[in-house]
Amino acid sequence: MAEGEWEALRAVRLEMLADTPTAYIESLVSAQAQTEGQWRSRSAAMTAPGSITLVAEAVPGAKAFCGLMRVVVKHPQETGRLLQAMLISVYVAAPFRGSGLADELLRQSVKAAAEELGAGLLQLGVHEDNTRAASFYGRHGFRDTGRRETYPLDISKKEIIMERELSAGEPALADSRAQSKA
Ligand SMILES: CC(C)(COP(=O)(O)OP(=O)(O)OC[C@H]1O[C@@H](n2cnc3c(N)ncnc32)[C@H](O)[C@@H]1OP(=O)(O)O)[C@@H](O)C(=O)NCCC(=O)NCCS
Repeated sequence: MAEGEWEALRAVRLEMLADTPTAYIESLVSAQAQTEGQWRSRSAAMTAPGSITLVAEAVPGAKAFCGLMRVVVKHPQETGRLLQAMLISVYVAAPFRGSGLADELLRQSVKAAAEELGAGLLQLGVHEDNTRAASFYGRHGFRDTGRRETYPLDISKKEIIMERELSAGEPALADSRAQSKA
């Protein structure tokens, strides 16, 4: 994603918050109240140093992205560990689920985290009820760390903290899917 693409960002963000409210730490009502200036700032932050946002368009120049994933350098870092990045804002529009688009976006996100952010570890939080996403991450080599964090929008719920070590030269998509199915 480029900094100037704030309108497509706003469109997909409102869509994803309506589609799966528990997947993100922001409410639809709160996002709907944001001004153009705030969306411009958000798109700038998402493309600033230390943050890479991967997007997919169903057709070139579409008004909304049909897929989005973001990797950011984690703050603060856990000392004594490899440089950590976070995978956040994961979304593929419903018509594209199960198509392999999410696999490709995640593969590119992992590559960007390792090669562009220089991270050695990629972490994420997934809502305890989001079994589809947890299964997807598991297939891509993320393991449950056993750590749980309170889901801020509903403190009766937990987020499962998963992570995956990164290495240079990520395997090709076909290889990683074949290995995980074995
Ligand atoms: C999470 C997401 C990106 C995954 O992409 P996808 O194209 O749906 O993923 P896939 O179909 O390749 O994989 C999903 C897995 O869940 C399984 N699955 C499908 N429907 C399911 C369901 N209703 N419940 C549980 N598992 C399900 C699939 O069989 C597949 O299993 P496998 O990996 O063992 O083959 C996408 O579903 C999405 O955007 N969901 C809404 C937003 C969201 O939840 N984001 C994650 C925030 S942490």
